[in-house]
Amino acid sequence: MLHPDVEVRLSPIHGKGLFARAFIPKGTVVWWIDGSELLYDAEGYARLPLETRNLCYENRGVYILSIEGGEYINHCCEPNVGWLTDERFVTLRDIQPDEELTYDYATGDISDYAIEDKTLGGWVCACGAPSCRKLITPHDCLKPEFQARHAGFLPSWTVEFIQQHTKTE
Ligand SMILES: C[S@@+](CC[C@H](N)C(=O)[O-])C[C@H]1O[C@@H](n2cnc3c(N)ncnc32)[C@H](O)[C@@H]1O
Ligand SMILES: [Zn+2]
Repeated sequence: MLHPDVEVRLSPIHGKGLFARAFIPKGTVVWWIDGSELLYDAEGYARLPLETRNLCYENRGVYILSIEGGEYINHCCEPNVGWLTDERFVTLRDIQPDEELTYDYATGDISDYAIEDKTLGGWVCACGAPSCRKLITPHDCLKPEFQARHAGFLPSWTVEFIQQHTKTE
């Protein structure tokens, strides 16, 4: 479910994105799971058209498709939204009217299901932020600077992934 002050508009980053209709203070929950989402297993996900697959995210083998607008949130390497819990997105700073809301896809995408060109090992970012990583990969969350930036705003599956890789490496 989208916060009432958030709406879908055309984005300079890519296609459609989420935008603030009004000032939204830091710490506001702007999207949350409300049970209306469509859920797919790996086989069901693979059968979806590419444009629909691009709107899903994965939580431990379950592919989740929002259908109320939240599915249009774009990625930015300097995001203003993060995970408050596995089921809620929160603003990381004050958001001005007409600002685009973004999160860092690498905070939740820890497998390569979303990467069409596997030879690249990632996908090319067009966020335009000064610290844009350019190539976004499912292993970005293993970088110390990434973990420092997103500390406290990662979903549990990514926290577990980091712990597992930190123990074995
Ligand atoms: C969840 S959708 C976001 C909505 C998308 N803008 C649309 O109109 O369908 C994810 C897709 O948006 C695009 N996208 C999102 N953020 C991007 C970025 N920073 N750079 C390039 N493409 C991006 C990619 O094609 C990605 O597969
Ligand atoms: Zn970027």
